[in-house]
Amino acid sequence: MKYIIFNWKSYLNLKQTYNLSQLIASFSKSRKYKIISAPNNFFALNINSKFPKNIISAQNIDTHGLGASTGSLDISCLLDGKIHFCILGHSEVRSNFDETDDVVKKKLEICIKNKIKPIICIGESEKIYKLKKTKSFIKNQIDSILSKKISYEELIIAYEPLWSIGTGLTPKIDEINEISSYLIKITKKYTFKNINILYGGSVNLTNVSDILNLQNVNGVLVGSASTKPEFIKFFN
Ligand code: PGA
Repeated sequence: MKYIIFNWKSYLNLKQTYNLSQLIASFSKSRKYKIISAPNNFFALNINSKFPKNIISAQNIDTHGLGASTGSLDISCLLDGKIHFCILGHSEVRSNFDETDDVVKKKLEICIKNKIKPIICIGESEKIYKLKKTKSFIKNQIDSILSKKISYEELIIAYEPLWSIGTGLTPKIDEINEISSYLIKITKKYTFKNINILYGGSVNLTNVSDILNLQNVNGVLVGSASTKPEFIKFFN
C-alpha cells in the first residue's frame, strides 16, 4: 500500500486542521493508500485524540531529553500522545535550526529506540542538481544518517529535492524513478524488514498520479497541496 503523507507544516489553524482531519476520517475503509497527516506539533495530540483512526505523524522531535529544555518536544510526548510516526530531517528544519545529518541520525536513533516510525527526508540543492551530483550527495546523506549497527523495522525515506519544495518545480518523472531505484540499491547494505521510498516536492493534483504510478516510488510527501480539500479527496 502506497504512503500518502500530508505535511501541514505551519499552514493551518486548529479549525482548518480539524476540518481536513474530519475529511480524512470520513474516507471509505477500503482505500488503497496509507494516509498519514502531520499537523503542527502543537495540534497533533488534540487531533489524534479526536480522530483516533487517522494516522498522525509529528513534524519533528528534539534530542535534549526530558528536563530543563524550554521549547523542546521530547519523544515521550509522542509516546504519551500515541503518535507513532515522526518526520525527521525536513529541509525546513535543517535550514531553520541549522540541523545537520548528525542531528538527524541522533533523532533517528531516538525514534528507533522508542518504536516511533521515522520518515527521513533527504534531498539535494539546486546547485548540486545542476552539477549532476545528486546521487553522490544523497548517498552521503544516507550513509551519514543510517547505521549498520541498527536493525530497522521499516524505513521510510522521502526524497525531496530542496529546489522542488514549494517552488512548483519537480524533477522529470524518469529522474524521480531513477533516484528512487538508486536509493533502494544503496540502502541494501543496511538491515531492515521493509523500505519505502517516497517522493516529495511540489506534488499536486496534476502530477500525483504519474508519480504514484512509478514502480520504485512507494508514496508521496505533500506540503502545500495537502492543505486543500480537493487534493485530499483524491485519495478516498
Ligand atoms: P510542497 O512541500 O509539497 O509544498 O513542495 C513538500 C514538503 O516540504 O514536504
